Amino acid sequence: MAVLITGGAGYIGSHTCVELLDAGFEVVILDNFINSKPEAIERIREITGKEVKTYTADLLNMEKVNQVFEENDIESVIHFAGLKAVGESVYYPLRYYHNNITGTLVLCEVMKAHNVKRLVFSSSATVYGMPDRVPISEDFPTAALNPYGRTKLMIEEILKDLYNSDQEWSIALLRYFNPIGAHKSGLIGEDPNGIPNNLMPYITQVAIGKLRELNVFGNQYSTKDGTGVRDYIHVVDLAKGHLRALEKVSTSSGVEAYNLGTGKGYSVLEMVSAFEKASREKIPYQIVEPRPGDAAICYSNPLKAREQLGWVAEKDIDQMCEDSWRWQKSNPNGYKNMQKDNLHLLKNGDFFMKK
Ligand code: NAD
Ligand code: WQD
Repeated sequence: MAVLITGGAGYIGSHTCVELLDAGFEVVILDNFINSKPEAIERIREITGKEVKTYTADLLNMEKVNQVFEENDIESVIHFAGLKAVGESVYYPLRYYHNNITGTLVLCEVMKAHNVKRLVFSSSATVYGMPDRVPISEDFPTAALNPYGRTKLMIEEILKDLYNSDQEWSIALLRYFNPIGAHKSGLIGEDPNGIPNNLMPYITQVAIGKLRELNVFGNQYSTKDGTGVRDYIHVVDLAKGHLRALEKVSTSSGVEAYNLGTGKGYSVLEMVSAFEKASREKIPYQIVEPRPGDAAICYSNPLKAREQLGWVAEKDIDQMCEDSWRWQKSNPNGYKNMQKDNLHLLKNGDFFMKK
């Protein structure tokens, strides 16, 4: 019996694969590498000592997704695959709706055809829009501020309808807050394309000298120091949350949303200080205009996940910064593009790593 991980080569997916393999699960990855590199799979093998069967496949290709289910004994799915850049989603809404929503529809159709009805879905704290108070609980009103956020909200609704139509489904909607950090080995981590949109990869690229200084988006918010406050969560804690959610969907049916956060808020300037302490590097910054659409404060109430999944985030902000820095220092240019020489490419687009 295996767990299918869509988007398993990506940032959160790769860390989750490591935790699953370490816990003895059999894992099958499906990824089209639109925002990741095959080398991440090789690194997962290096960390765990285990091979991972990987399909280079697009979720939009139903025939191919079906083949994955035909060839493997899949019992549940963790669905990470999706596009996630907020700004880009405003310019290319159709691409985002098609990839994220149609991709999920194809996945669910194929799951249904194979009678696989256990699903853990990557949702996001973005579904809370501009929260008017904190900490945020799962029963807060939802809203979307951009096409990316709308795809997450729409998918949540689709999955609720799916459960309402057939109560054999068991679905966990995991609403992540702000994942940062990396595996302690420094072998896997976040590898953004181009200039990072998110705070932590931006800071680490300033520290390594790839970017000159951090732009702090506004310092006039009603927060402790005027800069935006967020709930940063270590990606390994987040990955562990998926194992707890998998247990949950394997032992009960239903559709439930869970916040995965620490319940603590840190400002941008606090993050800069914490990173400087962890890395002993100076992070020059300038205050610039606020970024449109940014909330002042956003942090979770993570009680439901504690009570119903038995999960709490354990790693603190210092560990998050240390691990982000170790990854960046060991991989100044992120993952390498795998040389064709290192791959056995098959006609259908699949590949195997050469040892
Ligand atoms: P990521 O981009 O690193 O990983 C996503 C993976 O999905 C990539 O490997 C990409 O190649 C793959 N993919 C995308 N579209 C695909 C398709 N059509 N077919 C096959 N593979 C496809 O992103 P991540 O940070 O690991 O995020 C994983 C999930 O969590 C996403 O759904 C994202 O929206 C959600 N999420 C992320 C964050 C965050 O801050 N990183 C926060 C909340 C929610
Ligand atoms: C954090 C704080 C910025 C960059 C985004 C998505 C959200 C979710 C997580 C997927 C804010 C400030 C940032 C910079 C800055 N992703 N900042 N300078 O916006 O909370 O959430 O990622 O679901 O949907 O919107 O994260 O890391 O971009 O910003 O001052 O260069 O850092 O204003 O206060 P955000 P972030």
